[in-house]
Amino acid sequence: TRPLRIGMIGAGVVGGGVYEIIMNRLGGGSGGSSRNNNTPIITKICVRDASKARDFHIDSTATEVVTDVTSIINDDNIDLVLEVMGGVGLAKVAVMESLKNGKSVVTANKALIAENLQEIISVVDEVNRDGKKAVKFAYEASVCGGIPIIHTLQSGFKGDIINEVMGICNGTTNYMLGKMEEGADYDEVLKEAQDLGYAEADPTADVEGHDVRAKIAIIAKLAFGTNVDVNTIPCMGITNISVVDFEYAKLMGCTIKLVGTACRQSEFGEHDGALSVYVSPKLVPNGHLLASATGCGNAVAIDSANLGITSYTGPGAGRYPTANSIVSDVMRVANNTANAQPFPLLSSIEIDNDYVSAFY
Ligand code: NAP
Ligand code: HSE
Repeated sequence: TRPLRIGMIGAGVVGGGVYEIIMNRLGGGSGGSSRNNNTPIITKICVRDASKARDFHIDSTATEVVTDVTSIINDDNIDLVLEVMGGVGLAKVAVMESLKNGKSVVTANKALIAENLQEIISVVDEVNRDGKKAVKFAYEASVCGGIPIIHTLQSGFKGDIINEVMGICNGTTNYMLGKMEEGADYDEVLKEAQDLGYAEADPTADVEGHDVRAKIAIIAKLAFGTNVDVNTIPCMGITNISVVDFEYAKLMGCTIKLVGTACRQSEFGEHDGALSVYVSPKLVPNGHLLASATGCGNAVAIDSANLGITSYTGPGAGRYPTANSIVSDVMRVANNTANAQPFPLLSSIEIDNDYVSAFY
């Protein structure tokens, strides 16, 4: 056997963390004393600007830096492509072409997956059809950063029926709302969240709720087995929240959180109606488990028939939490245990966002 060879597209906040974990901590770099044949190696990195100073060390004896994605997706010596560049244009081309070229793909790109998961899975199935290739596709880091929520949804509810998922799925806005509750200024705390590496390249996606919209669309696909068109999800962000809203919330014993919700409508206690998916700021009672997510923390509550309410909390953004999820996916590909069929079921649940749309 030879080590899994990785081409990484993007080397910013997330890519830098992945590089450090794989090449330094796991020993993938040339100086790594703990390297064995199963330790993956990042052999190429693609960036926009190769001359830019990086906040992590690139081992030039082990890793080549390039500026053209084709140099990675057409490289026969690369087994796995790690897409941590973001966006839905070039990133989509890179993911699709890499899979077609027989490479496994790991990505953190929720915007891409929310819109294209079904198409990506079709390509994976097509490439693997004749049994000569066994490409894998994994995307744990795309939702809730360091919380392993994708794997939980893929494997933890096989004999269960999910009624509702409610989640704080954006670290930037959770960080901002927490600071604004203490009286901080909106623009100042947005800048802080950017400096901490939580925000998207264009933070509009965070504050307008589009990032949560993409994540709740992915969650809904996995939890309910139905294809939710991300662009039809009613969505309200935090741009209109001000300090005075927190004063009223406090009077009611509540805090304010940006929440993504996907729930089956219920009649007489049976959650067997249409599925509604939406994003909005919500008053959350102090003491509610969603209120416990502080800083860039995320929290997801799942209500299901067998388990009742289970909750999953942890860091939702930032370099190492996100890189941890990516490296977990990489190791699953290296050990051949990644889920080849990451969108396991398709159901015919009706989607009805009309009753929530009325409030937007
Ligand atoms: P980032 O810090 O802005 O890094 C983006 C990287 O992509 C940079 O290294 C940039 O190169 C490179 N890049 C951009 N356009 C390129 C192009 N046209 N060709 C080649 N390289 C290009 O972003 P990030 O925060 O790491 O996020 C990356 C992805 O992870 C996004 O999909 C994001 O949604 C997702 N994600 C982020 C977090 C987080 O906490 N930050 C958490 C979960 C998921 P240069 O460095 O040369 O500019
Ligand atoms: N910008 C995103 C957030 C990154 O703040 O949650 C993690 O997906």
